[in-house]
Amino acid sequence: MMRVRIFSSADAVARALARHVAGALRSEPALVLGLPTGRTPIPLYRELARLHQAGRADFSRATTFNLDEFLGLDARDPRSYRAFMQRHLFDHVNVQPRRIHFLDGTARDVARECDRYERAIDRAGGIDLQLLGLGTNGHIGFNEPGRALFARTHCARLKPVSRRANAPLFGNRLAAVPREALSVGMATILHAKRIVLLATGATKARCVERMINGPLTPRLPASLLQLHQNAEVWLDRRAARNL
Ligand code: GLP
Repeated sequence: MMRVRIFSSADAVARALARHVAGALRSEPALVLGLPTGRTPIPLYRELARLHQAGRADFSRATTFNLDEFLGLDARDPRSYRAFMQRHLFDHVNVQPRRIHFLDGTARDVARECDRYERAIDRAGGIDLQLLGLGTNGHIGFNEPGRALFARTHCARLKPVSRRANAPLFGNRLAAVPREALSVGMATILHAKRIVLLATGATKARCVERMINGPLTPRLPASLLQLHQNAEVWLDRRAARNL
């Protein structure tokens, strides 16, 4: 069974998870963190920045690997996930730029880029703490639902629902949202030593319930987290309402 923790509000989850990450950094300063993008982790990143400014979260020896990046977007493009992370977290904490890892959305040779990322994660000793968001269709990273899933880092074709969810980054112009992204795979995620999936808000409630209680299915990639020995799901009350 996945361990589930339920908090009174999205802010309360963010505060608790930020304290948890800060504590993990204290006990393991060279922590390797896997990081998500999306609206859900924004309050968490805000809280981590606050803790850092208060001298309670030190990223000086930490390493980060983000889950995914849009195909075709340069790291300097303000719509890229790389830029998102810079705005919401990296600009506000002391993580060393050389220890920030990202998939390069402009790589000419996509297969090689995916390979490079897997090897970089291996060289870092694997992910110690993988934080995840949850797509409303059950995706994690950009492992989209379908008949089959990818084990390793790959180029993913985005579902219309995922493109719509990301439209705000593109001035709400759906046509401007890339159709493909590079994403770590299911095995890359499941090999993390610890996983915390964060989900808040009523729109995630149905998916959260199926992820925790439903069968393992590629139709709901997050359901595979049930296979992990050390995966937790941190929710606010609204996301937990179907449990
Ligand atoms: C995005 C990302 C995911 C993220 C998810 C949920 O498209 N690729 O890693 O977890 O969708 O986003 P949100 O938190 O905005 O609901």
